[in-house]
Amino acid sequence: MKPAHKLLFVLCPMLVLGFIYYSSGKLHLHVWGQKPHKDVEPTVKVSKVTSVSVKTTKTKEPVVEGPVSVGRIVGSVFDNQGFLLNLDTRLPPELVYKYGNLSEGACKPGYAAAKMSAIYPKYEQISLLTVNTNFKLLRVFVSSLCSFLLSLSTERIIDVILSATKNYGLGPDLDSLSCKRCIIVGNGGILSNKSLGSRIDDYDVVIRLNEAPVSGYTRDVGTKTTLRITYPEGAIQKTESYEKDSLFVFSAFKPLDFKWLRQMVFKEKLQGTEGFWKSVAHSVPRQPSEIRILNPYFIQEAAFQFIGLPQNNGLMGKGNIPTLGTVAITMALHNCDEVAVAGFGYDMNTPHAPLHYYETVKMSAIKESWTHNISKEKEFLRKLVKTNIITDLTNGI
Ligand SMILES: *[C@@H]1O[C@H](CO)[C@@H](O)[C@H](O)[C@H]1NC(C)=O
Ligand SMILES: *[C@@H]1O[C@H](CO)[C@@H](O)[C@H](O)[C@H]1NC(C)=O
Ligand SMILES: *[C@@H]1O[C@H](CO)[C@@H](O)[C@H](O)[C@H]1NC(C)=O
Repeated sequence: MKPAHKLLFVLCPMLVLGFIYYSSGKLHLHVWGQKPHKDVEPTVKVSKVTSVSVKTTKTKEPVVEGPVSVGRIVGSVFDNQGFLLNLDTRLPPELVYKYGNLSEGACKPGYAAAKMSAIYPKYEQISLLTVNTNFKLLRVFVSSLCSFLLSLSTERIIDVILSATKNYGLGPDLDSLSCKRCIIVGNGGILSNKSLGSRIDDYDVVIRLNEAPVSGYTRDVGTKTTLRITYPEGAIQKTESYEKDSLFVFSAFKPLDFKWLRQMVFKEKLQGTEGFWKSVAHSVPRQPSEIRILNPYFIQEAAFQFIGLPQNNGLMGKGNIPTLGTVAITMALHNCDEVAVAGFGYDMNTPHAPLHYYETVKMSAIKESWTHNISKEKEFLRKLVKTNIITDLTNGI
């Protein structure tokens, strides 16, 4: 090992720890939405053990020391990821009090975050939707973990991109809503022929992924697109297929992705495309002010905290990349008061059913993925559905 590599090897864990320390104090900046979430301090009643309560704080330190270790003798009340083992749909008493007086069907402020804290005491309320100038370096660092150190130029590229895009939120109308309902529309064939379009359009924020089309499918998938979250290989290639007024939210999984984005933002001729795993769009018909960089924290949190994918010494790949759908859900949990999904889940018992709502490719075409771990991911999503943290309109999860 060269001395320089050795140094990086030592520096990496130190920076990660440094980040965690730093983040515990600094990450609560609110950009999307003026209204900070109320600090929720749920009391987790552990019925199997003597009634033990765990107070949630906003620090990164696990707060399960002390009384709970008594419970470990009987059997832990949390799973490996830190979720309560005993999940149910009931609201903790303090939330019953908080939401009990709302009329049926009214949007419940802070609901997703509050319920999440109730089943996952380590939950941190971070609501920085996109990278902004103050926080970009740390975010990118977290995203690509230590590979970032080898590509400091990425940070310069982000500076250049942010100097052109300048905006970080959803726009004044949505940012000022006191209670936001969001839906993430997955690309699954399960959306076909369910006529959910008008229900989807009722949400304040409609999030679509990659190249999922709207035109021609509006009866089933709705007409509205607030955010389209995309990585380079998944971006719509035909410029005429972009809807009119959505925000283009860019999710980076590797440093090369930022180089592509810079060329899109500045409408440059595309070059340097070796390294993408399929062909990528040559232009994105969006003004810089309509482009955002998704906070990479959500990728990291989804992969390592919620799903429990292997860290692979800080390298992305080999089954530790979360799917974009789960990254979008993770982002929405932090940024929306209520979260719903539609078009998620693969049903392997129906091999002839269509995989996507917009293609004839069949379910049976799906291969064992080496980048994702679909079954582990599903375990996480099921926890969210089981506890009503997310509503699954197509019941595929
Ligand atoms: C709900 O209504 C009850 C009875 O009117 C009242 O005591 C309580 O404070 C209300 N809760 C909230 C959160 O407003
Ligand atoms: C949806 O309906 C169309 C027209 O009736 C039909 O051709 C198609 O197979 C249906 N798709 C699914 C997934 O059921
Ligand atoms: C997914 O995770 C499970 C449990 O950790 C493991 O056994 C399996 O090999 C993983 N699959 C992939 C594709 O990485």
